[in-house]
Amino acid sequence: MSWLNIDNKVYIVTGGSSGIGKAIVEALLEQNCIVVNADISEVEQNNKNYRFFKTDISFDEDIRNLVEFTIQNFKKIDGVVNNAGINIPRLLVDYKKEESEFELSSDIYDKIMNINLKGVYMLSQKCAKVFIKQGYGVVLNMSSESGLEGSEGQGCYAASKAALNSFTRSWAKELGKKNIRVVGVAPGILEETGLRTLAYEEALAYTRNKTVDDLRKGYSNTSTIPLSRSGKLSEVADLVMYLLSQRASYITGVTINIAGGKTRG
Ligand SMILES: NC(=O)c1ccc[n+]([C@@H]2O[C@H](COP(=O)([O-])OP(=O)(O)OC[C@H]3O[C@@H](n4cnc5c(N)ncnc54)[C@H](O)[C@@H]3O)[C@@H](O)[C@H]2O)c1
Repeated sequence: MSWLNIDNKVYIVTGGSSGIGKAIVEALLEQNCIVVNADISEVEQNNKNYRFFKTDISFDEDIRNLVEFTIQNFKKIDGVVNNAGINIPRLLVDYKKEESEFELSSDIYDKIMNINLKGVYMLSQKCAKVFIKQGYGVVLNMSSESGLEGSEGQGCYAASKAALNSFTRSWAKELGKKNIRVVGVAPGILEETGLRTLAYEEALAYTRNKTVDDLRKGYSNTSTIPLSRSGKLSEVADLVMYLLSQRASYITGVTINIAGGKTRG
């Protein structure tokens, strides 16, 4: 028996085709778990315990089908990792110009909130119904340090993560008596993932009055991080696996910051 003892447990991971989610999928497979990767874009994993289920987490019907698929195939769900998320930098007010594309619009607001927040509630609700019948389960929400600290040019994203932290606290209070834990993980600055597209960098640079080059130099400037480096995706995956396991059996209702000691974003 391994220390984590999560062999043969069944986990749904959203956004498991890239970045943090992919690292989580791979770490779980290494521990002999069964993993259903719910993502809009498909990625292969050469492992018999891996399934891809095409899912847009902002669509209720996709989520219903995902949960049905998992139960039909594996008869149970031990935990759900709400990892999928997007970030589109936008200012509240662009005082440099009128009619700016970099000002928050209701379309962008809806897009961010539908994926980062509404999708999480819809999937957690369906999984929690299964967990209640089973008598156990874990909901893990992927937050961000920005949800605790705020972030210039990323107010909508940071607000979606702060709201997620609040879901984590409230759902833990609602579901604790049913032996269901609800936990969050809030990474700070990490090695590069799919979130760092050119469109993202251009928008963030604009909102901070910097060039994309200056922004890129900032990635290696770790002076605000006490551990003086960015985090590895595998370090986030390690924390996720611990929280999913019974080793974390008395932890619920909290969002754990994993940011190398950085506290101001
Ligand atoms: N990378 C970081 O530094 C960092 C820091 C803090 C928090 N986070 C959070 O970690 C999570 C993962 O981020 P990442 O950096 O690995 O991003 P990423 O872009 O590399 O991966 C996100 C995955 O989610 C999928 N996805 C996007 N929209 C989806 C939808 N509607 N339905 C299903 N899947 C969808 C994408 O296809 C992609 O595979 C996000 O919630 C993000 O906010 C990331």
